[in-house]
Amino acid sequence: MKTFTLGNSDNQVLELIPNKQIKLVSVGATQICVSRIETKFFAFQKLCPHRMASLKEGFVTDFEEVVCPLHQYRFDLNTGEVRAGSCDSLITYQTKLTEEGLTILLP
Ligand code: FES
Repeated sequence: MKTFTLGNSDNQVLELIPNKQIKLVSVGATQICVSRIETKFFAFQKLCPHRMASLKEGFVTDFEEVVCPLHQYRFDLNTGEVRAGSCDSLITYQTKLTEEGLTILLP
């Protein structure tokens, strides 16, 4: 398990990732998507597991889902489970907001 920390403080991370926006973040050699609803953060794979569309171009719903821009499949941001559509689950990563920034755990 690898740990990455985004930003230097909780306030800085809240500014870097505006509410319900999806940002691409480099963690080591890979890029992942990070979003949040208020102070609850979500980290997940960059490409949709259906046909590899960029999820950065999708959107986050109030039901803690990301909606893919290409065929509008919906994925649970907590578990990665497909809520609408039929494909593999989305890979999600654990996050924790602390006074030192946003910690992201990668396998
Ligand atoms: S590529 Fe994402 S739903 Fe088809």
